[in-house]
Amino acid sequence: MNSMKSYLLLLSTLCIAVLFSRCTGKMSAQNATQSSRSTKGLKDYYKNYFTMGVAVSPRELRTDAAKLVAEHFASVTPENAMKMGPIHPRENEYFWSDADTIVAFAKKNKMKVRGHTLVWHAQTPNWLFTGANGDTVSKQLLLQRMKDHITTVVNRYKGSIYAWDVVNEAIDDNNQLYLRNTAWYRICGEEFIAKAFEYAHAADPKAVLFYNDYNTENPGKRDRIFKLVKGLKDAGVPIHGVGLQGHWSVNNPSREELEQSIKMFSSLGLQVQVTELDVSVYAGRQGGQLINGQRDTSSTFTAEMEQQQLEKYKMVFDVFRKYKKELTGVTFWNISDRYSWLDGRGRKNYPLLFDRNLQPKKAFWEVVNF
Ligand code: G3I
Repeated sequence: MNSMKSYLLLLSTLCIAVLFSRCTGKMSAQNATQSSRSTKGLKDYYKNYFTMGVAVSPRELRTDAAKLVAEHFASVTPENAMKMGPIHPRENEYFWSDADTIVAFAKKNKMKVRGHTLVWHAQTPNWLFTGANGDTVSKQLLLQRMKDHITTVVNRYKGSIYAWDVVNEAIDDNNQLYLRNTAWYRICGEEFIAKAFEYAHAADPKAVLFYNDYNTENPGKRDRIFKLVKGLKDAGVPIHGVGLQGHWSVNNPSREELEQSIKMFSSLGLQVQVTELDVSVYAGRQGGQLINGQRDTSSTFTAEMEQQQLEKYKMVFDVFRKYKKELTGVTFWNISDRYSWLDGRGRKNYPLLFDRNLQPKKAFWEVVNF
């Protein structure tokens, strides 16, 4: 009897030992997988799908975030440095330093650069719209100024910048209207859009030229953007792509809305890129606007937010991979939760794949585990 007991004891000990070694072996393999996988960058996981990019500032490239940018991305977009105001503050004065810093970083790290943006209603200096005696500039002079700006900037970065957001956000958010009521439109009429593309193409015939906008999954706005870009294409204007900015949130867009947008714009023979991707942890379109201006004091990234966000990132990247023939690039807007343009709305946001310590979040693993 004793020998039977000792046999059973030995057998159960052996079983526990085998189970334990399998369990620790599995965990270490998983950890090893994650640690080895995390040495693989986003761009490596997606090298057979599309270019993975990120918007940056010169300041961030002087911090520890620079290493993450070089490891995970194959393209950079200047968040602000190449907009009209920052790069051309006065009529006869350009400020190249910040833009040059970003282009030099890209060159050093063998990355591509998306130029952003040549013509926009925001961050545009007042001198552009002001005539000699302080009145509103004429259409002819404004188009000449636009041409000089685009020619100077595009020429400077010819060969370094592969794609430009030529015109940004020209369509109004109000479904009853068409073009946004901007100084460009009021002074030049719709013609400023085609002219911008023609000037950019003349300056660099090799650059891929995009029309860029947000809420492109909102059916009403999408239809009016489609009308604009189809009209440009049909008129022989050198437009090559549409940028879906992708300022989404945990509850938008739906898979159907996103697929419809990619299908519609690519049906025109245009490239599609997601140019400013982030998934706000607050509901609503365009990154989750403050509801009635209510300041949200929640400064924690809750487990519920994280779960909703990883589900949204999983869905959109499933769609991106499905349309890899139509989608030529996906660019995140800002590097990590350390800083997001969305933070300026009276509350901290957590819209990206890397946390404030630059570590991959759960959403990162959803994006790369396919
Ligand atoms: O550089 C000045 C600084 O000298 C000054 O002291 C400071 C305070 O006034 O302002 C600084 O400029 C700010 C700039 O960001 C650089 O930080 C501007 O005020 C501020 O308006 C600007 O915000 C940018 C915003 O575009 C402008 O509308 C955001 O960083 C940028 O992320 C955001 O990006 C846009 C895309 O270009 C187009 N799609 C939407 C997206 C989000 O709005």
